[in-house]
Amino acid sequence: MSTANLLNLQDPQQVINPYGIYTSLRASGELLWSERYDMWLAPTHATANATLRAKSLGRIFSPVLPESEWEIFNWLHSDSILDSEPPKHTRLRALVQKAFTPGRIEALRPNIVQTCVELLDRAEVKRNEQGHFDVLADYAEPLPVLIIADLLGVPRDMAEDLRRWSQDIVKMYEFDRTREQELAAQESGKAFSEYVSAIARERKKNPQSDLITALVEVEELGEKLNEHELIAMCVLLLNAGHEASVNGFGNGMVALFNNPDQLGLLAAHPHELAPTALEEMLRYDSPLHLFERTATADTQIGEITVQVGQKVGALLGSANRDGTVFAEPDTFDITRAQNPHIAFGAGIHFCIGAPLARLEMLTSLPMLFERFPDLQLAGEPVQRPTFVLRGWESIPAS
Ligand code: HEM
Repeated sequence: MSTANLLNLQDPQQVINPYGIYTSLRASGELLWSERYDMWLAPTHATANATLRAKSLGRIFSPVLPESEWEIFNWLHSDSILDSEPPKHTRLRALVQKAFTPGRIEALRPNIVQTCVELLDRAEVKRNEQGHFDVLADYAEPLPVLIIADLLGVPRDMAEDLRRWSQDIVKMYEFDRTREQELAAQESGKAFSEYVSAIARERKKNPQSDLITALVEVEELGEKLNEHELIAMCVLLLNAGHEASVNGFGNGMVALFNNPDQLGLLAAHPHELAPTALEEMLRYDSPLHLFERTATADTQIGEITVQVGQKVGALLGSANRDGTVFAEPDTFDITRAQNPHIAFGAGIHFCIGAPLARLEMLTSLPMLFERFPDLQLAGEPVQRPTFVLRGWESIPAS
């Protein structure tokens, strides 16, 4: 069996911990053909990075069939910035980039601080009453959902629905999924798009100072953003604006609990170490593990020519453990100074929300340790059985 076929996501053990397989993949070659997944795998930092940056390796969305059943789900993707390539991608990215200027992100800081205070107050009451709280459900999860809702102009009391719709949709990105999960993704895509569409109609009548209004105004100015693109953009921002952030924080917290020396260090110096700690959390156990590209022309990656039509999977979680780039890659070191991880991707699709995600973690991480300097696990964390979006279901702490 070729080494690439070692990656088998039907094996629950590999989903729980793919890092051993990643080491074998990196050791045996730069780009490896997986018969099982009918694609090249790019497990090293150099090949994953090159895959994301190659102009002739594009994000080409394949519609889910039959198209009649999946119509909404399909255009939510084919009309989104993430699944577009230039020139459409360039136009959409330029529009949304305006909302993510450093000034606009910085302006969210007081809101993030206030939200953390409220969540920590509730977590503290829970800990005092029940002896523990859930770092994920009570802190890491609500924060990015509430902030992205504020940014777009979606009422905060919709947070639970946003989270559920989003969770249903992202199950479609996993290799193993059930019919029930597919039906839930269809339903949630429909509900999500109808909801955003209704808000957009409302904002046309009553403009506010939020991002949905800004996008509606662009739409009205002419051909720049059509209705599907507008809705797809909002749904993507609401999804992407919290899914990876929740898991990035949760994965990092479990890594801290598994490395008590690092936990103690951060608890002792939360503000000083937060900047390097958050980058290490994203590197060591990255929240997103695989992004696919399809060759629109023959493309050279290292020694291999990827032929037109073939797919390549960039394994971000593996790239971020590459010993040729990171000293002692399997050591969790929150003081790591050289940390060129690619958890936020690379190239034209590089995460537009990276400054917001970083600001949220930079704020929420030290605040958690200021409030709970002796934070410790209060039970077994429960892992999600998903590979592409790697994360935890619950992390009890006291
Ligand atoms: C820790 C948190 C996050 C991580 C690890 C992350 C990671 C990523 C990655 C790897 C990509 C590139 C995908 C590809 O190349 O195919 C991406 C794209 C994107 N992310 Fe994030 N993300 C995070 C948070 C956010 C937030 C907070 C937002 C929005 C507020 C956001 C919005 C987006 C958007 C819109 C794209 C598509 C950009 C494009 O196609 O040009 N992300 N993200």
